[in-house]
Amino acid sequence: MILKPLWFDRLPSTNTFLKERLELEPALLSGTVVAAREQTHGRGRRDREWLSDANENLTFSLFLRTVSNPRKIPSATMAAAIAIAELLDSIGIQANLKWPNDVQVGGKKICGILSEAVSSGVIIGIGLNVNMGGAKHIDQPATSILMASGERRSIEEMLEMLLPTLADRLNEWGQGGFSKVRKKWEANVPTLGKTVTVRDGETSRCGILRGFGDDGELLLDEHGVVSAIWAGDVEG
Ligand code: BTN
Repeated sequence: MILKPLWFDRLPSTNTFLKERLELEPALLSGTVVAAREQTHGRGRRDREWLSDANENLTFSLFLRTVSNPRKIPSATMAAAIAIAELLDSIGIQANLKWPNDVQVGGKKICGILSEAVSSGVIIGIGLNVNMGGAKHIDQPATSILMASGERRSIEEMLEMLLPTLADRLNEWGQGGFSKVRKKWEANVPTLGKTVTVRDGETSRCGILRGFGDDGELLLDEHGVVSAIWAGDVEG
């Protein structure tokens, strides 16, 4: 179950806020959602910043009480990404998924997700570009709902529309892990069966993307030998 979101005009970071809140209130309800119209210290993966102009984009975090298995947690991100792609689809925007945590439109990033394990579960932080008018403040080519569709949208409405689908995907994930949502994930991965490069820091590996394992790990076929990759970014 997901609760009615708590909106703040400004927070340093919704992920950080929820982490601190959990320390003060360990019994915090699962499904608590905190959204900010502006983040002053938004965080991305790999210690990057997540910068977003005030009132333009959706930035929020959700606390999910769950088994804190470090192997399972990353695929919560993937379940959330599926829900974002479904939201975009419902407003006429065709989105794709890029392992491990990006949602793209026309090859450009429209959403980033940062999941952080805490002792009682996971905090899933989502940044969805809604009314951003030009690609700025971002680590790779980026787009927004406005840029993809020509329409401005209310960030509150986008969150309201997203939460029921997000709840469904996270429930499925909670019941059966990534296996439960794998079909939906793979249906939106255009690089499946194609040659990709997976880069992790200085290391890069090239092979055919065969699919995803039971915990969302990427299965890469290098000259007929398939191995599981747990961290990195897919290119190409
Ligand atoms: C990434 O692609 O690097 C992940 C970006 C995640 C950004 C969101 S915005 C809401 C939440 N609060 C944060 O500080 N980060 C996440």
